[in-house]
Amino acid sequence: MRSFIHALPKVELHVHLVGSAGVDTVLELARRHPSAGVPTDRDELARFYAFRDFDHFLKVYWAVQSMLEDRHDIHTLVVGLARELAAQNVRYAEVTVTPYNHLLDGMSGDELLAGLASGRSSAAGLGVELAWCFDIPGEKGLAGARETLAFAVTERPDGLVSFGLGGPEAGVGRAQFAPFFDAARAAGLHSVPHAGETSGPETIWAAVRDLRAERIGHGTSCVEDPALLEHLALKGIVLEVCPTSNVRTRQVASISAHPVRQMLAAGVVVTLNTDDPPFFGATLEGEYLEVASALDLGHADVARLAENAVLASFLPNSRKTELL
Ligand code: ADE
Ligand code: ZN
Repeated sequence: MRSFIHALPKVELHVHLVGSAGVDTVLELARRHPSAGVPTDRDELARFYAFRDFDHFLKVYWAVQSMLEDRHDIHTLVVGLARELAAQNVRYAEVTVTPYNHLLDGMSGDELLAGLASGRSSAAGLGVELAWCFDIPGEKGLAGARETLAFAVTERPDGLVSFGLGGPEAGVGRAQFAPFFDAARAAGLHSVPHAGETSGPETIWAAVRDLRAERIGHGTSCVEDPALLEHLALKGIVLEVCPTSNVRTRQVASISAHPVRQMLAAGVVVTLNTDDPPFFGATLEGEYLEVASALDLGHADVARLAENAVLASFLPNSRKTELL
């Protein structure tokens, strides 16, 4: 099964750029920016990465974020991710970038875009095509939404395909972001908010109804509401399931207890993704392997999951055909 999974031409639809920073990349950044206080020693860094819960995860995420100062740092991140994807035969990835966080940290929009563009072109040289999702950090409220939208529609960099919403969900209602998603969709961007990762099915309903989500980041709690499961299946709204992430942030007890089983049984389109891979000790190949083993899937079922991701991507049809 391992070699079968490796050989499949894979697509990753839910991975955060900052959350994709592996140990080598973080060491490089920590040594470049010692004042950030991130360990510059490999073992110490590994302890720093030892997760307790979602809040601790966010703390580590912010420490990495704080080391990103210019195009050089962004380029380092993008190329580090691309190398990891190439090694796993992942041919295409839609990568979530949160411009507002970089702008708040004092990076100029031009630096961010230059790092993304040069990283993307190096990734192409490694055989990995990258596209971008610009997402609103929900915890920053409407100011973050306004700036993210303005940045996305005015800059409209090559490869930008979608508009998202991330961060904690509790107390961050999806509906308040509806006007921003409307404007993003009017500008031709696809709607891919996080929902139902750390809160209940009502958040997913809001993402579907208010934000017109085409794909949902996580959607884990949809299985608590049979009417929602039916709706997702009927409308072909895709779930970007991130099993290891859910286990590591303690939203789900284990991969075998993951609701992906019920999602599939209800006919919902499931894709497998990594979210913040090195933070959670995840790889895309590992997600396929773990789910295949927990659900006792055969080759055809696993191939179907990989096909789901190709079909649910925002690639043009001609490129999808090449990957199927
Ligand atoms: N930002 C980075 N990773 C995230 C996650 N798993 N959920 C919400 N926002 C995020
Ligand atoms: Zn995510």
